[in-house]
Amino acid sequence: MLASRIAKKLETRLGKIELSRFPNGEARVYVTEPRVGKQAVVVQSLSNPVDRHLVEFCLICDALKRKGVKEIIAVIPWLGYSLQDKVFRVGEALSTKVVSKMLQTVSLDKVITYDLHNLAIPGFFEAPLINLSGREFFVEYFKNKVDERAVVVSPDAGAAKSSARFANDLGLNVVYVNKKRDFATGKVTVQGISQNVKGLKVLIKDDLISTGGTLITVSKLLKQQGVQSIEVAATHHLYVEGTQAKLNQSPIGNIVVTDTVEPRVRGVKAKKLKVLSVAEKIAEEIEG
Ligand code: R5P
Repeated sequence: MLASRIAKKLETRLGKIELSRFPNGEARVYVTEPRVGKQAVVVQSLSNPVDRHLVEFCLICDALKRKGVKEIIAVIPWLGYSLQDKVFRVGEALSTKVVSKMLQTVSLDKVITYDLHNLAIPGFFEAPLINLSGREFFVEYFKNKVDERAVVVSPDAGAAKSSARFANDLGLNVVYVNKKRDFATGKVTVQGISQNVKGLKVLIKDDLISTGGTLITVSKLLKQQGVQSIEVAATHHLYVEGTQAKLNQSPIGNIVVTDTVEPRVRGVKAKKLKVLSVAEKIAEEIEG
């Protein structure tokens, strides 16, 4: 678990908190740690079950403040609701803004997160928000595994800049795929690719994997185009029911993610999943 790994790196331990439910279903938070210091680090990715994690995070921060904590460092490695960062269709909520406000119900002194979906999101926070990048881990992992036949593929316009930086760090070219998602159905289609990839070893770079729709669709296109192999680097492992099974059957080889969200086996075992830990980097950021 990431929180324990961070505590270990900080040479401390996890504080004691009781999380339970009132009979009517409401969350109940009770800080049982006998003494709290002036500073507390609260680690909570807004992963599934997202709403529960969101409420628990807010209640934990409140309970800590009421017990005497003066400064809260919020470590939210995966900022849930950050995909709905725009009103894509009239009538939709600007969820990222609403959830950012909820998270700041108790004032936070610093927020540490990873690979935000949109670089404008820090503007929704009053406290300094440190947006760390998983790229350095992926570069380290792949640098001795790539050769002159390798290219980085950006699966959509949103991933273009980070893919280009990743490719640059590895000394590779970047290929752009034009992916579209239907806002109503969520269905992913690809409408083109910027260059011929026949015979190349492809490394897809994305911020997250959820349904796997993006990877499956893009990898099918790449396979049709005759690539030699496909590997993936994605920061957030947000697999839903069925994602793992679909990925196991896809032409994708290795998938490398981080532990911003704890990968959990749901029935189907991952064939080739490598998890890199961000704990040390977060600990360094906490220590300042
Ligand atoms: C899209 O903008 C994101 O960067 C990801 O490509 C996308 O959210 C991945 O989701 P899924 O696995 O459901 O296609």
